[in-house]
Amino acid sequence: MTHAPANHPVHVGIIMDGNGRWAKQRGLPRIEGHRRGVETVRTIIDAAKDLGIKYLTLYAFSVENWKRPGDEVSGLMGLLEFFLKKETKTLVKNQVRLLTIGRTQELPEAVRGQLENAKKATAHFTDHTLILALNYGSRTEIVDAARAYAAAVASGKEKLNDSSWATFSRYLYTADIPDPDLIIRTSGETRVSNFLLPQAAYAEFVFIPTLWPDFTKADFAAAVATFAKRERRFGLTSEQLKPAVAR
Ligand code: IPE
Ligand code: IPE
Ligand code: MG
Repeated sequence: MTHAPANHPVHVGIIMDGNGRWAKQRGLPRIEGHRRGVETVRTIIDAAKDLGIKYLTLYAFSVENWKRPGDEVSGLMGLLEFFLKKETKTLVKNQVRLLTIGRTQELPEAVRGQLENAKKATAHFTDHTLILALNYGSRTEIVDAARAYAAAVASGKEKLNDSSWATFSRYLYTADIPDPDLIIRTSGETRVSNFLLPQAAYAEFVFIPTLWPDFTKADFAAAVATFAKRERRFGLTSEQLKPAVAR
């Protein structure tokens, strides 16, 4: 899909990492780190609006995260339910639309209920969108899209000979969301961990050593400022991108 025209990101994705290490450093159970992480989520949703970011995607739970210890998984699901219950009012007040990407149908019923409420209550907002990646994985997303695309071909809705990224990407969870311009990962890890792989084909990456519970609005603003200094070439040469007068 489209990319930001200027050097300000339209869509920022964040891999919120480091809750466990934050807790470990303090001799606390991992769930305490997640609890503090939720506070950061609140701050960052607010900050995104102030920074003029139209789309914010937060990677909250991956398809691989189910393999963590059972008490951590159920703790995370409980926090998610509690967060949605409490946060819906704030989203409405701030006019932020909530969307999700991922196999949300596999989440616990109580979480699905809260998600439906929050989505319904915010569906009419257009200026700011919060996308929660829940039970999300890029490879799963591609498989789901391929399945839906194959069904559309079989029913005659799509023609195999017309296949292109433009037609196929309509079947991704992100069909109506522009590609991310900037992806931030906290905690010092420098990997993508199955997050928005095809959508991030031309995204800029910023890796920050700060653990997610310690991530601040100022850190977020600094990452956006770093993005502004990058030259995105999309396969062209630097000279091609500059207006003739500037050469
Ligand atoms: C990120 O923090 C939150 C989730 C993956 C749910 P982690 O729990 O991965 O924290 P670390 O990487 O173990 O420190
Ligand atoms: C990525 O973090 C998933 C989320 C932030 C939800 P992980 O902590 O699960 O990633 P790995 O296992 O270190 O790659
Ligand atoms: Mg981690």
